[in-house]
Amino acid sequence: MTQDELKQAVAQAAADYVAANAPAGSIIGVGTGSTANFFIDALAPLKDRYRGAVASSEATRRRLEGHGFPVLDLNDVEHIPVYVDGADEIDAGLNMIKGGGGALTREKIVAAVAGTFVCIADGSKLVDTMGKFPLPVEVIPMACAHVARELTKLGGTPVLRAGFVTDNGNLILDVKGLAITDPKGLEARINQIVGVVTNGLFAVRPADVLLLGTAEGVRRIG
Ligand code: 5RP
Repeated sequence: MTQDELKQAVAQAAADYVAANAPAGSIIGVGTGSTANFFIDALAPLKDRYRGAVASSEATRRRLEGHGFPVLDLNDVEHIPVYVDGADEIDAGLNMIKGGGGALTREKIVAAVAGTFVCIADGSKLVDTMGKFPLPVEVIPMACAHVARELTKLGGTPVLRAGFVTDNGNLILDVKGLAITDPKGLEARINQIVGVVTNGLFAVRPADVLLLGTAEGVRRIG
């Protein structure tokens, strides 16, 4: 199977999970990226079952609306039973690195409101220890150099994502070389640096369920 076929398989499995676990008339949280895009396409035929969706990025909002899915402002929503999103890396504890698409802050906000976080990923994303994928950190533009110095003190090598501005008008530093032995502690530590909006470690609020695409089929963890 190609990587896209694995992503399509987990996207369909996630649409089935949502149909079984999110009540009719509820609001679905939708992530960002190529796997999330397959999920949007798989969810579209069932759109009349749901009141609408909350999008974790402008790109996701556009794709949902392209399918005729109503997209709601999170401030008008009290409860999101299920949030479905991809990951750049995920470990056995369902801690993740996210933000390869630069949507980490809105993804973390929607995840914080969601009852159940379902991560969808092809098998290449499951790792023993996270950190091979550079950790994205969203930064207020005027603080970029300061934050980069602080991240270097933590042992990382930050690289400014060239020509990229987030949906929130900020910059991304991609940090290579961090030893992620304590994901929760490192997530909290980096978020304490003044000028950091948030970082792409999702360990304080990890996924609840992983749907992993493998050659043998979709494996469910959690
Ligand atoms: C975007 C993300 C994505 O979920 C992550 O980058 C995975 O993307 P893809 O499904 O394209 O591999 O965090 O900010």
